[in-house]
Order: sequence, then C-alpha cells, then structure tokens
Amino acid sequence: MAATGRRMSRRFYHRRNTFMYSDRVSVHIVEHPLVHDALATLRDATTPPELFRRMAVRISLLLAAEATRDIPSESVRVGTPLGPAEGRRVSGGVVVVPVLRAGLGMLDAVLELIPTARVGHIGLQRDEMTAIASQYYSKLPADLRGSFVLMIDPMLATGGSAVAALDLLKHAGARDVRMICIVAAPEGVALVEQHHPDVRIFTPAVDCGLNSHKFIVPGLGDFGDRLYGTT
Ligand code: PRP
Ligand code: URA
Repeated sequence: MAATGRRMSRRFYHRRNTFMYSDRVSVHIVEHPLVHDALATLRDATTPPELFRRMAVRISLLLAAEATRDIPSESVRVGTPLGPAEGRRVSGGVVVVPVLRAGLGMLDAVLELIPTARVGHIGLQRDEMTAIASQYYSKLPADLRGSFVLMIDPMLATGGSAVAALDLLKHAGARDVRMICIVAAPEGVALVEQHHPDVRIFTPAVDCGLNSHKFIVPGLGDFGDRLYGTT
C-alpha cells in the first residue's frame, strides 16, 4: 500500500512495522490526480516504451512544478497589449541534475519548465547482484553553493544511489537540494533521511518495500530498461 498524505511529517509505520519515519523526515507526497493517472500507466507492465517515455515526461512536469513551489522569483513589469502589468520571473541559479541513466527521462520536462537551468550529470549504476551503486560519471556546473538544485532520479529503492549522488552534490558545494522521484521505497527514504536529513523528497508514492533483488514492490520494474527498451 502506498503512503498517502501531503507531507509525511508525522510518525509513519510501514504496514509490517519494519520501518518508521522519524518526525524530521521531509517527504512530500504529491497527490494530484494527473500525477497518479500517469503513474498508473508507468506501473502497468503492458505499457510500451514509447508511451512509458511520454508518461515519464508528463509526470516529471507535474512533480517538478510541485518541487519548485518556493523557487526564487523576482518582480518584473511587462507590457501587455493594453498596458503595463506586474509579474514575477524565476531568478537565481537553478541547477538540475539527472542521475544517469533513468533520470534522463525526466530532464526534458524540467527544462521545459526552467529553460535557463544549468544541468549537471551524475552517472551511477547499481550492481545487479549486490544492488550497490558505483559512480561512472560526474560533471557538475560551478557555483552550486548558491543554487537551487533539483536532483532527478525516478527510483529511490535502497537509497544507495541517491545518497551517493547527494554526497557528490554536497561535496561540490550544493546546499539547497530537492530530490524528485517517481516511486520511492521506505528503505530509500530512511537512508536519505539518515545521511541527508535536509534534503526534501518529492514523490507521488512510497511503496511497500523491496524484494530480494532490491526492486521496489509493487514499483514499476526497471525504469531505465522500460524507458529505453533494453529489457
Ligand atoms: C536505478 C534508478 C536509481 C537506482 C535506485 O538506476 O534509476 O538510480 O536504480 O536504486 P537504489 O536506490 O537501490 O540505489 P540503475 O542503477 O538501475 O541504472 P540505470 O538508470 O542506468 O538503469
Ligand atoms: N531501479 C529500478 O529501476 N527499479 C527498482 O525497482 C529499483 C531500482
């Protein structure tokens, strides 16, 4: 059963009482019906890669909109055909960091919303036997310290990849980091909380847990393989 509630700032027990979120955890559960409509298609094992990619973009747009509610913006004045109007424009440095490879499926959606964002890339690969993530690539923009950083990775399973990516980002100076994922497991949330309690996680679903291969159950399978048809 997926956890619900807009923000899990209270104690939350997994149904087998195995996991518990502390009072500090900052997981924002996105409940918008359009998000869950897209998620149902992503979860469906019969969804072909082309539709999977479209739904990955759609859900990422909606999740990114939620995760950027407090993005810095400044007042501007523009001229409409009928006269001056006050408005707001996104200001300050925004950096979006997809975790390769699956995170690339979310990147275009975020750039559609924030075309001026700079992009960093972190390449991590889970070992198929141990599920331990190892880094094979990293290229980050300079000056992360003052930037609004959005890390995007669709799956938060054991949390090993997320913690490794967040370690890299923090080491490079990032201070204000949000993570967007499409499905999370309680184990991954707990690991991120343990290592990076300041990072806010935006997701529509925290599923039941992990299977013996460290895949999220019910999850949606291997996101990267389904996105790129490499199953
Ligand atoms: C997937 C996913 C995350 C990671 C999550 O990537 O995109 O990065 O697994 O698992 P974890 O929380 O247990 O670390 P994967 O390593 O399969 O690589 P891919 O994106 O190239 O398919
Ligand atoms: N990576 C995926 O793509 N899916 C999972 O369930 C876990 C890790």
